[in-house]
Amino acid sequence: MRLSFALLVALLSHHAVHATRHSFDTHDYYVLEHNPRVGPSLSQVARRLGVQVVERAGELDNFWVVRVPIQHSSSSLSKRNSEGDHVLARLAALRSSRYPRDPDSHAARRIADSVSHLSRQELRQRVKRAPPPIRPGDGDDASKHPLALAIIDKLDIHDPQFTRQWHLVNEEFPEHIMNVTRLWDMGITGHGVVTSFVDDGLDYESEDLVDNFWEAGSYDFNDHEDLPYPKLFDDHHGTRCAGQVGAVKNNVCGVGIAYDSKVAGIRILSGSISDIDEAAALNYNYQNTSIYSCSWGPPDDGKSMESPSYLIERAILNGIQNGRDGKGSIFVFASGNGAAYGDQCNFDGYTNSIYSITVAAIDYKGLHPIYSEACAANLVVAYSSGSGHHIVTTDKGKSVCATTHGGTSAAAPNAAGVYTLALSVRPELTWRDLQHLTVRTAEVINIDDPDWDKTASGRLFSYKYGYGRLNGYEFVTAAQNWQLVKPQAWLELPAVQVGNGSSTLTGEMSGGLPIVPGGVTSTVTITQEDLERGNLESLEHLTVRVWITHDRRGDVEVEVISPNGVKSILAARRLVDTNKDGYPAWRFMSVKHWDEDPRGEWTIRVSDIGAKDRTGHFLGWQLSLFGSSIDASIVREYEIPLFDKVLPSLPSPNEPPVGDHPSTTTRAHPKPTEHLPGNHGEAEGEADKPAFENGDPTEDTAKPTSSSSAAPSGAMVPTADEGWFSDMSTLVANQRWVFGAAGIVFLFGLTAGVFLCRRAARRRRAEDYSALPGDDLALGTLSRGGRGPRTKELYDAFGERGDDEDEPDEHTGLRARSPDAIGVEVGFHEGFLDDEDPNTPRTAPTPAYRDEPEKREAPSHEGAASPSGSGSGSGDGSWEHASQTR
Ligand SMILES: *[C@@H]1O[C@H](CO)[C@@H](O)[C@H](O)[C@H]1NC(C)=O
Ligand SMILES: *[C@@H]1O[C@H](CO)[C@@H](O)[C@H](O)[C@H]1NC(C)=O
Ligand SMILES: *[C@@H]1O[C@H](CO)[C@@H](O)[C@H](O)[C@H]1NC(C)=O
Repeated sequence: MRLSFALLVALLSHHAVHATRHSFDTHDYYVLEHNPRVGPSLSQVARRLGVQVVERAGELDNFWVVRVPIQHSSSSLSKRNSEGDHVLARLAALRSSRYPRDPDSHAARRIADSVSHLSRQELRQRVKRAPPPIRPGDGDDASKHPLALAIIDKLDIHDPQFTRQWHLVNEEFPEHIMNVTRLWDMGITGHGVVTSFVDDGLDYESEDLVDNFWEAGSYDFNDHEDLPYPKLFDDHHGTRCAGQVGAVKNNVCGVGIAYDSKVAGIRILSGSISDIDEAAALNYNYQNTSIYSCSWGPPDDGKSMESPSYLIERAILNGIQNGRDGKGSIFVFASGNGAAYGDQCNFDGYTNSIYSITVAAIDYKGLHPIYSEACAANLVVAYSSGSGHHIVTTDKGKSVCATTHGGTSAAAPNAAGVYTLALSVRPELTWRDLQHLTVRTAEVINIDDPDWDKTASGRLFSYKYGYGRLNGYEFVTAAQNWQLVKPQAWLELPAVQVGNGSSTLTGEMSGGLPIVPGGVTSTVTITQEDLERGNLESLEHLTVRVWITHDRRGDVEVEVISPNGVKSILAARRLVDTNKDGYPAWRFMSVKHWDEDPRGEWTIRVSDIGAKDRTGHFLGWQLSLFGSSIDASIVREYEIPLFDKVLPSLPSPNEPPVGDHPSTTTRAHPKPTEHLPGNHGEAEGEADKPAFENGDPTEDTAKPTSSSSAAPSGAMVPTADEGWFSDMSTLVANQRWVFGAAGIVFLFGLTAGVFLCRRAARRRRAEDYSALPGDDLALGTLSRGGRGPRTKELYDAFGERGDDEDEPDEHTGLRARSPDAIGVEVGFHEGFLDDEDPNTPRTAPTPAYRDEPEKREAPSHEGAASPSGSGSGSGDGSWEHASQTR
């Protein structure tokens, strides 16, 4: 009896270390970002919000999973918005507690101030980018393999399917291979590197994988078990991808590109998972795991437009900044299989992240396969299915081989295999070194393809092929002698308003210029001083955030033209995208301007297809440049801006409306097989069409001239350049303001003085109970926001009641905070918050709130043990379009 109890405890605590199974049928889960410097402890916060602390969220500091039992009275539908959500409502109420002389109200405020982010977690289903099960590939004529036989002899290969692995040795088109066999001959086989397959499991019992399986980096986030066994009947995708990299050189199936490396499996695609688990998955074992190969994403249906939630973005950034001992996790993403539906990888926030290496596909003949998505964020192509052939690899089962694998799903692991080889010889390469090496060593293919375009750096770039095909030999040998790049720097320009366009944090857009025939253009100028201010020596990625309304999103075309006349098509027409929500602060990315001198005038052009009954407005845009630093010694860590979705850029923390901010939601990523055409392997590829028919370079060059030369009908430059760059300092100051509270504790003292002065002047307004800008802001950041932007989070050493004061937070592992950081007196607090920003207009009054007595539940560390539920719903803005389309 006692023994089994001890075992149970051990199991539970073991699970807690990993990631607890969250029981969505009995509880609502939230993720809470707690700023311990504000004062109240996590347990105090939890008690006040009426939530239980479950565990830390993945590898993210100060992010906690909390939960409440589901209340029967409220239907799950009515809780989809924060008004119906008791926990969010309670926080909103705490934030608006404004009886300045009431110590309880003050304590409530401090509790609220220590919560930088709170969002409800729901389950999502991610979509694999794999092929559907189709008939086995055409049998090979086993007699004609002279090239393969030579390698088999030389390297003593006994894998029976090796001769069919054309991506390694291609008898018919010898130039179309990953070009790694010469590396094997040099002894470069991936030794010591771990690549993780974030997918639907990994069959570690396969004789082709068992010897290379890396258990420490593996976990099943669908069933919350240590081992990622692919349990569902169609859970073969992750195993196939893993085989491409780590299939052992033995007598089973074929070999992996890095056959002496280790492969780990992270199972997330076999059912719904929460953002918490997805975030944890992308940071799993991230010191020892080098590469995360991700062949999934939002649906490739040509109408979805989705980006990772705030929590997942934070996890990706955490991997970049802290993974691999600070060298950065390598996130390899498949570009998507929706090209046949007009889908583009710039409508997927994972593939168009600067932190991911986006890999599209070319086929057996080096042609562009019908499914492989194009966009300005494509970095490179690797081989996959098409023109009659599939990728041959390991399959689920003891010794089963897959012969129908393909899609961009299979291109990404082929690239990951090459990166594995490179890291085995140069483990010190950072995430950006791999991107640089990719750009520099990629090889142009199909030179006559009209999609190629000359860049300012002299390279050719194509939306279909990125910088070209990944040449394994060239890449790895270049990596051996590569001089590491300097740390990353960036220049984020303030958002440009066009036609007084504006947008709130919740995405309500108004104003802007009508999109007229020929399009609307807007320009900004980047000067030498800007680059120096941004510490930016050379350009790598560029992102463009846009605010556009339109009756039909798929009609809109967006392009940006550099000072050197290089054009990036960011959005081309999408025939099936009928969404009416436009682009509320959507961020596009381009790698086409890599190594370009960014000084001079940048122009954005927004146009549509000119349908009479479908129109829209261009409200504004925001350009950011990322690259190498001038002075490596002054580089800081990038922080995700809090208010980057608001137009105009906020001069100071501002006022999102209370109550209607959507919470994070449950979503299902469709299976990667879902949008991959059934004939992805058989269909003949092409190399004679531009990626974007409507963005045809030849047709396009005429358009901007007509619209921009005379600036007809609405084309305009919204802000004088001086205004622009005087704004720069505001921006910099603003960022400091925004992050000061969370990041820079010693600023508190300084701002205390400011607040004191302001409070004195404005104290008479204390009886005004309308909501404060600061209050609203904090709530508005519930699902998007992050660290408390409010430097007003000075805390009161004496404000919290004694019974809470020094309670050790043993459950959560938080250390007791120091109560004497700032010697502020009690009386000080009763109104200083009113003085936050006298210039900010007040929002509509919110009912004054008095915190209700709540059941006090001590935070617990228990793991919920019931099976994962199948929550569903929508709400998070970034996912809502997809929800509609599913
Ligand atoms: C492999 O790479 C080397 C170096 O770039 C090149 O000379 C060779 O032609 C490549 N082989 C193939 C088949 O592409
Ligand atoms: C993972 O890496 C750390 C160093 O970063 C090392 O101490 C640890 O032993 C490694 N774990 C495994 C399982 O190899
Ligand atoms: C923008 O607003 C200002 C004043 O608020 C007005 O003078 C100006 O005409 C507006 N511009 C446009 C393009 O609507």
